[in-house]
Amino acid sequence: MTDLDPAKLPRHLAIIMDGNGRWAQQQGFARTKGHERGADTIRSVTTECARLHLEQLTLYAFSHENWKRPRTEIAFLMRLLRKFLVRERPTMMDNDVRLTAIGRLDDLPDDARAELDRSIEMTSGNGGLNLCLALSYGGRAEIVDACKRLAREVAAGTLDPEALDEDAVSARLYQPGRDPDLLVRTAGERRISNFLLWQISYAEIYVTEACWPEFSVEELHAALRDYAGRTRKYGGLVDPRPEAVR
Ligand code: IPE
Ligand code: IPE
Ligand code: MG
Repeated sequence: MTDLDPAKLPRHLAIIMDGNGRWAQQQGFARTKGHERGADTIRSVTTECARLHLEQLTLYAFSHENWKRPRTEIAFLMRLLRKFLVRERPTMMDNDVRLTAIGRLDDLPDDARAELDRSIEMTSGNGGLNLCLALSYGGRAEIVDACKRLAREVAAGTLDPEALDEDAVSARLYQPGRDPDLLVRTAGERRISNFLLWQISYAEIYVTEACWPEFSVEELHAALRDYAGRTRKYGGLVDPRPEAVR
């Protein structure tokens, strides 16, 4: 159906879904229209990632820093989140998608949190794509929260500080698991905006000028095709033969 080589797809794709407001303003709409259309993009991108058998899609939906936005925009986004969670349940079930979430979820309004918990519970038995929503998420906040857990364990005498290593930190992040292979950012900004700071140390980065509401399945394929052509080295050498060092 596509020219994508399944062996060269990322197993974990993470996306900074940016540009909802700019897209809306370019069309002469209120910013909120961009968020609404952005929710539709989540459905099409998730369905395609499930069809391609990706293991995980992590979407930056609302940052810890987005609480600085005007109260009316935040209220709109929280209502949209609640409606999205209810509306998308059948599609998630049909596509065998398992919903999870990372972030300071206790910051969410009670009604949105309740629908989130319901969707997580309802989809927990699905074995396909893990759709992970980053909500009230900050990369530094996540590392701070992991440090607190480690400090408590050391104080309780259940963790030896000398035994601390990278795996010990990773294991105390919001959702330990495979790090993203590919990080996509829409709307052209070349920054990380506090997303998955620990986990993206060796992610491949792809930036597109397309705003999130206009990020089509074709745009997704273009990002995946670009990723397929990358060489990942992790600080090592591609050709491990000693003579290649010279
Ligand atoms: C991304 O779009 C959605 C959220 C951050 C919630 P923006 O709302 O940041 O859109 P721009 O960047 O202002 O265009
Ligand atoms: C990043 O976008 C957060 C999300 C996509 C949820 P922002 O629009 O908040 O990022 P900045 O402010 O441009 O860095
Ligand atoms: Mg933005």
